[in-house]
Amino acid sequence: MGQYKNQQEAEAAGVYISKVRSFVKREGRLTNGQAKALETYWPTMGVEFQESMLDMTALFGRDAPVVLEIGFGMGKSLVEMAAQSRELNFLGIEVHRPGVGACLADAGERNLSNLRVMEYDAVEVFKKMIPDGALTRVQLYFPDPWHKKRHHKRRIVQPEFVEMVRQKLTIGGKFHMATDWEPYAEHMADVMNAAPGYTNTADTGNYVPRPDYRPTTKFEVRGQKLGHGVWDLIYQRTE
Ligand SMILES: C[S@@+](CC[C@H](N)C(=O)[O-])C[C@H]1O[C@@H](n2cnc3c(N)ncnc32)[C@H](O)[C@@H]1O
Repeated sequence: MGQYKNQQEAEAAGVYISKVRSFVKREGRLTNGQAKALETYWPTMGVEFQESMLDMTALFGRDAPVVLEIGFGMGKSLVEMAAQSRELNFLGIEVHRPGVGACLADAGERNLSNLRVMEYDAVEVFKKMIPDGALTRVQLYFPDPWHKKRHHKRRIVQPEFVEMVRQKLTIGGKFHMATDWEPYAEHMADVMNAAPGYTNTADTGNYVPRPDYRPTTKFEVRGQKLGHGVWDLIYQRTE
């Protein structure tokens, strides 16, 4: 970054610096069903990236607590949750276009009016579009673990990121993470335990049993049959 103290300063000077991202954009092909779902449901459920704060009440057409999910994959568990908790508003963010299409196909089939989706980098969306104190819960399920040491900087859970999440939660709001990679679970706990303004909701230790509202994914059930573990962490914003 040389003479510039941070990304913002460099950008303000018109200098392009490549950012460390938590994902690699894969240009996977859309199935016919995903393409059709994007065409049919994007106009009502899709949200374009913009450089201004969202008005959540206007976005959902009602005032209700908002749950935001980062990296929903194909959207299976997000759609299930939105269907189970119609009293909540859900906003899902995913960079992988086929996943957005798959999520919209499911959501459209189930006639959900409490779900909105974005196809963008969640970090940028947080910075530019989510007002402070707007979220009742942030969900981060099975984020890319970035196994190799030299890739650890790509892990989305970092001190700066969790501080940004804290600001977007209401006081008392929860940050719920789950992973099947124990070293990442330990990393999440280390970062969160050191972060100011959060308390761990676990009775003992760092982890909690999977809450009923988080459906298990097919992949997770398969892993459990093979004896693999899953770690859930839920931290609450205290200040
Ligand atoms: C390992 S997958 C897990 C997907 C899903 N949560 C599940 O449990 O099946 C991680 C997902 O996060 C997405 N992702 C990673 N970084 C992201 C970011 N900054 N913004 C939005 N999505 C992101 C990836 O595209 C990928 O689909």
